[in-house]
Amino acid sequence: MTVAPEKSDVDVPEGYVKLTIDGEEVVAPQGELLIRTAERLGTVIPRFCDHPLLDPAGACRQCLVEVEMNGRPMPKPQASCTMTVADGMVVKTQVTSEVADKAQQGVMELLLINHPLDCPICDKGGECPLQNQAMAHGRADSRFVDKKRTFPKPLPISSQVLLDRERCVLCQRCTRFSDQIAGDPFIDLLERGAHQQIGTAETADVLDAASHTSSGQPFQSYFSGNTIQICPVGALTSAQYRFRSRPFDLVSTPSVCEHCSSGCAERTDFRRGKVMRKLAGEDPDVNEEWICDKGRFAFRYANAEQRIRRPLVRSAETGELEEVSWTEALRAAAAGLTKARDGKGVGVLPGGRVTIEDAYAYSKFARVALRTHDVDHRARAHSAEELDFLASRVARDGGPAGGGVTFADLESAPVALCVAFEPEEEAPAVFLRLRKGARTGDIKVVHIGQWSSPAVEKTFGELLACPPGGEADAVEGIAQHAPDLDEALCSAGAVVLVGERAAEVPGLPTALHRLAERTGARLAWIPRRAGERGAVEAGTLPTLLPGGRPVADADARAEVERHWGLEAGTLSAEPGRDVTGMLNAIVTRDLDGLLVGGVDLDDLPDPALARKAFDAAGFVVSLELLPSTVTPYADVVLPIAPVDEKGGTFVNWEGRRRPFTVTLDGTGALPDCRVLDTLGVEMDTDLFTQTPDAALGDLDRLPASSVRAAAPDHPSVAPPTPGPGQALLATWRQLIDDGSLQIDEPALAGTARRVVARMSQATADGLGDHVTVSTDRGSVTLPVEVTDLPDGVVWLPGNSPGSKLRATLGAGHGAVVDIAGGDR
Ligand code: SF4
Ligand code: FES
Repeated sequence: MTVAPEKSDVDVPEGYVKLTIDGEEVVAPQGELLIRTAERLGTVIPRFCDHPLLDPAGACRQCLVEVEMNGRPMPKPQASCTMTVADGMVVKTQVTSEVADKAQQGVMELLLINHPLDCPICDKGGECPLQNQAMAHGRADSRFVDKKRTFPKPLPISSQVLLDRERCVLCQRCTRFSDQIAGDPFIDLLERGAHQQIGTAETADVLDAASHTSSGQPFQSYFSGNTIQICPVGALTSAQYRFRSRPFDLVSTPSVCEHCSSGCAERTDFRRGKVMRKLAGEDPDVNEEWICDKGRFAFRYANAEQRIRRPLVRSAETGELEEVSWTEALRAAAAGLTKARDGKGVGVLPGGRVTIEDAYAYSKFARVALRTHDVDHRARAHSAEELDFLASRVARDGGPAGGGVTFADLESAPVALCVAFEPEEEAPAVFLRLRKGARTGDIKVVHIGQWSSPAVEKTFGELLACPPGGEADAVEGIAQHAPDLDEALCSAGAVVLVGERAAEVPGLPTALHRLAERTGARLAWIPRRAGERGAVEAGTLPTLLPGGRPVADADARAEVERHWGLEAGTLSAEPGRDVTGMLNAIVTRDLDGLLVGGVDLDDLPDPALARKAFDAAGFVVSLELLPSTVTPYADVVLPIAPVDEKGGTFVNWEGRRRPFTVTLDGTGALPDCRVLDTLGVEMDTDLFTQTPDAALGDLDRLPASSVRAAAPDHPSVAPPTPGPGQALLATWRQLIDDGSLQIDEPALAGTARRVVARMSQATADGLGDHVTVSTDRGSVTLPVEVTDLPDGVVWLPGNSPGSKLRATLGAGHGAVVDIAGGDR
């Protein structure tokens, strides 16, 4: 517990101390740093190296204050960022002490000796702590007459992060962030004295790298942008933003990241209708002050040249998509969808990047305008068992206020078991919390997976290795094979984190449900895409209505019918088809049309089936931002707004709502919910989803339902045994890959992890440097990297350059593939 320091004549409570700062008597919690106590009293002591989320370093000496203990002044001014409060301490800051003020001015003068006066061309100029503090506390003129230290510049620390060494004040914020928070200790302080600088083996061109760096490796991190943001000067800049704009030209809005299900707070800075950069926002409950590089740097897709800005309708004469007015396009879409609905019906594929408002509009449009439960947002591998799991264990699962697992729980849990979930690649903010919990607390992180990935190492984790597809058996065998883990899972606060890959392993969702029931551990489902959790609440699933109501339950249907003003009995009691069911139905002519949101056919379990189905579909309407794999099959394309041009709410994996407002106003781009609302009107239906607010209001007015879906109950299936020349495929997607929201970001792409095929030494024996992994659909050839995988297993990244598995192999996690030496 912490309390605001206050003047106090009262007794000091246990765990607190009484001290005096600038003549004011204050009570502060034991162990608090002086700089923090003073700050909460309203006195800001200048600082550079101090950061509340990093361990104290005392590196810059800017925060010096006068300290007296037991009536005896300390001989020299002390760094207030490393000294903790003590009973009876008397502290004088620059406000009341000439000594402290002079010491701070002296340090500032020393820092500025070698610091260039290039503020007018420095990215940090205008928002620079050094500039601000030099103005507030520095000398009016310089006494330094010699030549300043210079370096060749800038040095690329990575393709994204550039270093201007002469600007560095050696505060060690970047090195401490990399070492403590991200676990990527690849940049370091090199050399000593006036030659001291930040760098890596690769960048320290003038140094004897081997003797000065801790790792000898290039800086590689998914979190490198945070070092740029916390650098208190302009020493670290990003290739993406360098020299693009001045801070005082920018307008800032708070925003929420659209990339993964963490829902990190961000700040979006724009100028003249164009987003210039994204920064981490502060939210102690979610991302604290950090975001990953994808969240920070992947935003230019929204302004890509190929963006669809006008509605398109396929011409009957030319067969080409042609620009038309909104009226014309909506009429064509309504006519085609009405005809298909009145024929064999229309299926709805909203995709997983929707806000909850847009998802609700798809859900309602399907049920009301298209009269079907054929709706499924899961544009990825999926299963009927997963549907049961989502309905019974995820939908309506409380969120933070209702006892759901939270980010904070990841710091305090006795154990976190990650199953079919690769936190650093799939939800980086979750990874950072797990690492924090493991580094500073007692949490034990256990991963059920195939190899000791960087996340296993950086969470100080333990790997319970199993073959791909063997995760269900591994979970069921915990009590027998890992009794310590089993005991830990039975203790209060234990959590199990489940990734969306669980859908690819028959029996795994059931095994996880049973594990939670037996041990009392709380389950959290952490999908990759930002919209999936909200879409479950909005009912874009064939078995679920909004609010987690099972389609099969008569009371649940009646509640929704009343709310939507439908006649009793309008909603069918028969659940709809899932994505694969819809695609198969199109092929067999049991379904006529498709209404599609942000879906890439190569993300679907069987892209070949998807293409066949889209080719056979009688009518396809696509709501899209950019031309996609769906566009060639679309009869009507309706352009929709990217996140920066609309308001809405993502629901993160915790079940926490993450609302955001429009950043770029007045572009005329429409959110999906508005497009669907207007399309509904064309089809004589009122959805009441004209705006995100209206859509959310409509959803929230649905009374809470007490009906709960039945738990999953499916058998597990042992993974197949690969024959000679074969292996089991293990795969997941890397954070930085060929994802469609990462286009036009070459500097970001340069920070992606190496694309390699991983396998054990025994599996690699005789293959050579490269391996060709193939199925009857196609093949992928990659360099081999020997890793601690079980024998007979090959791991490949799922969607990286040269390794797009669904598109190339038509295979996913747990499939049997052929392997052979593949010379390049
Ligand atoms: Fe965005 Fe997820 Fe990265 Fe946070 S962790 S910035 S939500 S991609
Ligand atoms: Fe205290 Fe740097 S802020 S030494």
